[in-house]
This record gives sequence, C-alpha cells and structure tokens, in this order.
Amino acid sequence: MRDAAVRAKLRPHSWNQSQVTDAAHYVVFTARTEITAADIAHLIQRTAEVRGQPASALASYQQLMEGNLLNDARKPHLHDWAARQAYIAMGQLMTGAAVLGIDTCPMEGFDPAKYDEILGPRKDGYACVAAVALGYRSEGDKYAALPKVRYPKAEVIKVV
Ligand SMILES: Cc1cc2nc3c(=O)[nH]c(=O)nc-3n(C[C@H](O)[C@H](O)[C@H](O)COP(=O)(O)O)c2cc1C
Repeated sequence: MRDAAVRAKLRPHSWNQSQVTDAAHYVVFTARTEITAADIAHLIQRTAEVRGQPASALASYQQLMEGNLLNDARKPHLHDWAARQAYIAMGQLMTGAAVLGIDTCPMEGFDPAKYDEILGPRKDGYACVAAVALGYRSEGDKYAALPKVRYPKAEVIKVV
C-alpha cells in the first residue's frame, strides 16, 4: 500500500499501531469470501491458456476441485480455507524479505470489517484477513536486538 492517506485511515482500526503508517511498506492480504463453480472454471480456463491445452482436457481436474471444494461440508468454511492460502503467500513474503535483510511484522491486530469498509475488497468477493508491515529496522528499535524466543526443536518437531 502506497497511499499515506489510506494508511492513516487504517491506523485507528489497527489498535493504533505505528507500523501501519510508519513502515516502509504495508501489505494487506485478502481472501475470497466464497468460492463458486465459476471460480474453478476461471482457474481451469487460465490453466488451459498458460499450458496451451484445451479446457476439456482438464475436465476431470475441474470435477475433482468442484467435488472437493463445493460440497456441503466444506462450503461454510471456504473463506477460512482461502485465508489459509493467503497465509502461505504471507509466509513467502516474510521469508523473501528476511533473505533481503528486510524485517517484517505479521499482523492480525486490526478490525477486518473496518479494513473491508476502507479498502473495499468485498465488492470483488474478497475480505481482509491479515497484514504485513515491512521495512529496514530502526537503529533505535530495542525489540529488534532482543533474542528470538523459540521453543526447543524437540518440543515442536515430532519424528514418526
Ligand atoms: C494472531 C497474531 C496476531 C498478531 N498481530 C500482531 C499485530 O497486529 N501487531 C504486532 O506488532 N504483532 C502482532 N503479532 C505478533 C507478531 O507478528 C510476532 O508473532 C511477534 O513479533 C513475534 O515474532 P518473532 O518471534 O518472530 O519476533 C501477532 C501474532 C499473532 C500470533
């Protein structure tokens, strides 16, 4: 997000956190509010276009996705499922930034309904789910120098 005025509008709905207006970059992640057969058809169309094959050759793939995603048990949870896909992209952004020596802060500390109101993704079928602030660390940031708190490997990795 590049518009300082929009970032200033978001800040009071983000626990007034300063990184919303101060970080070099502020990226808000959205996810589909629902997923329909038309979305799956769109992906099939795009896949056919990119791979230069007829959409009909992807019919069984299309049916598999429809059967898996559009069934009654999944339907109420599709926004959460879509949000999980957005978090994969968030992780990639954070890792990529870290490789370049850029710090990030993943954030859920905001009012998603207010973000939706200000940024307007719902008209396109999306809703705000999380944000990442990015930038070079300030020399005066006392938190940046603190040791990272991580649980021991044996506590978080189970080898079967
Ligand atoms: C669900 C969730 C929401 C969070 N939201 C914010 C936030 O809005 N602002 C913030 O500064 N940190 C937030 N954090 C904390 C940081 O993103 C991060 O977890 C923390 O800085 C520790 O990360 P580190 O150990 O890699 O430094 C949130 C963490 C979680 C688990």
